[in-house]
Amino acid sequence: MKLGDLLQTQDWKKEKHVPVIDAPDSVKSGETFDITVSVGKEVSHPNTTEHHIRFIQIYFLPEGGKHAYQLANVEFSAHGESTEGANEGPAYTHHAATISVQLKKPGTLLAMSLCNIHGLWENSREIKVA
Ligand code: FE2
Repeated sequence: MKLGDLLQTQDWKKEKHVPVIDAPDSVKSGETFDITVSVGKEVSHPNTTEHHIRFIQIYFLPEGGKHAYQLANVEFSAHGESTEGANEGPAYTHHAATISVQLKKPGTLLAMSLCNIHGLWENSREIKVA
């Protein structure tokens, strides 16, 4: 068994757990641009004390490269917890994140998310750098 064997993926338009990567198809070398990764873009995922997304991690694998570089690690810490009980709390962190990035090479953006009860999910998309 390998950790990679536990990464699930599907069509994000049908499966609510798949992290969706919104980014330009092509960017200029060294120019700052935004990447937004969200879970449940088409089919919403719950955000409750009992069932929620814990984190999204974003990586970049340069074309021809062997190792991925981590771009971000975003933890979603508030899910309605409180002393009054589950889902009675005043705060919920929504499971989406926007980061600003610069790239010098084309490659693949990869995202991994964790649902506290449905495990690890992944997605990827190519990005060109001119
Ligand atoms: Fe879930």
